[in-house]
Amino acid sequence: MKDNRTFTMIKPDAVANGHTGAILDQIIKGGFKIIAMKYIALTDQKAGQFYEVHKERPFYGELVDFMSSGPIVAAILEKQNAVEDFRKLIGATDPAKAEKGTIRNLFAQSIGANAIHGSDSAENAKIEGDFFFSALERF
Ligand code: RTP
Ligand code: MG
Repeated sequence: MKDNRTFTMIKPDAVANGHTGAILDQIIKGGFKIIAMKYIALTDQKAGQFYEVHKERPFYGELVDFMSSGPIVAAILEKQNAVEDFRKLIGATDPAKAEKGTIRNLFAQSIGANAIHGSDSAENAKIEGDFFFSALERF
């Protein structure tokens, strides 16, 4: 699958702490073009559906509660090698292990409240983008 798009969410912790602008700035300066974007609140049910792949993991309930605890910014981003390059820009899941200067290093609180999501494959980027955006909502 062509890997020129990824999907992201600025998570409730980063939005609540006022980091939306700084994070979008890093994304744009990182060479990603915004194809679609919305400011939206996930219901418990929608967050559960989005993270269905993690259903059996011990942190699933906590993750769903957290992701529906406040508004998020969801976006589809375009760049060559988007999935891998975006994972580099955001850093490791655990902010304590995230490389200096990455979005999670700068803005994440903990492994749960870790500021931002990035798709882990081109296939999932497509699925996740389709979950949030209709054809009319994309540039
Ligand atoms: P994401 O999907 O949000 O971009 O994060 P990721 O790929 O780096 O990590 P993943 O394994 O997909 O986990 C999804 C999200 O679940 C939360 N998590 N909590 N308490 C824990 O041990 C734990 N482990 C993962 C994190 O918010 C993670 O981003
Ligand atoms: Mg993941």
